[in-house]
Amino acid sequence: MFPTHRPRRLRSHPQLRRMVRENIVTTSDFIYPLFAVPGEGVANEVKSMPGVYQLSIDKIVEEAKEVYDLGIPSIILFGIPEGKDDDATGAWHDCGIVQKATEAVKKAVPDLVVSVDTCLCEYTPHGHCGYLEVGDLTGRVLNDPTLELLKKTAVSQANAGADIIAPSGMMDGFVGAIRSGLDEAGFENIPIMSYAAKYASSYYGPFRDVAESAPQFGDRRTYQMDPANGKEAIKEIELDITEGADMLMVKPALAYMDIIWRVKEATNLPVAAYNVSGEYSMVKAAALNGWVDEEKLVMETMMSFKRSGADLILTYHAKDVARWLKGQ
Ligand code: PBG
Ligand code: ZN
Repeated sequence: MFPTHRPRRLRSHPQLRRMVRENIVTTSDFIYPLFAVPGEGVANEVKSMPGVYQLSIDKIVEEAKEVYDLGIPSIILFGIPEGKDDDATGAWHDCGIVQKATEAVKKAVPDLVVSVDTCLCEYTPHGHCGYLEVGDLTGRVLNDPTLELLKKTAVSQANAGADIIAPSGMMDGFVGAIRSGLDEAGFENIPIMSYAAKYASSYYGPFRDVAESAPQFGDRRTYQMDPANGKEAIKEIELDITEGADMLMVKPALAYMDIIWRVKEATNLPVAAYNVSGEYSMVKAAALNGWVDEEKLVMETMMSFKRSGADLILTYHAKDVARWLKGQ
């Protein structure tokens, strides 16, 4: 009798398929990004990201409640400040937009894990992720002065009640600097989720519309990674682990699933995948045109992140996924 091996046997019935399924997507896997702006009653939908809004803090609180009620364990906060300056004051000031949003959310929904993005790009007029020499028009970020600002930012975020510090600027030594800053301030129990392997990607375009953080000159290729490099991701995560990272992130996700896999193989730390703005916008555009089945396509993508080794997924689809998982 040929064929002797018939893998189709285990695919013949939905229950059988369920029994041999290797991976699972659950609501526990998700972190939902939110963007805080000054004002009250503000909800500006972003053109390039249907369903994503810049929200004032009162609206962020409403959203946080909804996220919590859907069973999603965590949000990550980004901020669009009142004003920008070369020292990125809005990032590290105790009255900064992210600090105020964090306080409000922790007060209203104490059990929701508030992660905060720790970077300077939204807070500087030039839009780079660090400190520039005054008058620099090339965008060559000064590494070590940036570390001091990141340290201050993380400590003030922790002071505001943040549960996870997520530095995203790809500065050398940023995890170590932030760890020592947090420890010195008595926050030795606050974990760091490092954007450890973050590539200089065109998939961030729509995010920069929402966060109003596009570099005004130059680009981010002197600090974010070259998309051509895979082994270098392992070097980056090894450094972050040595410096005290508690979780590692790979970003973007879709075009970088090989990196998610390699990172997961190389570490025992939890690995997060950031399904970034451009990935979201492509799906939304196709779905709004009726060209794809949004639910099926998104769920397949989320499952693929899990299969590639992601323990956690940061995605703008998180609320939809949570509803679909509930059968709504
Ligand atoms: C910058 C930052 C970026 C994102 C989050 N923080 C990318 C960038 O502008 O270089 C991208 C997130 C997304 O595209 O969804 N610190
Ligand atoms: Zn940045």
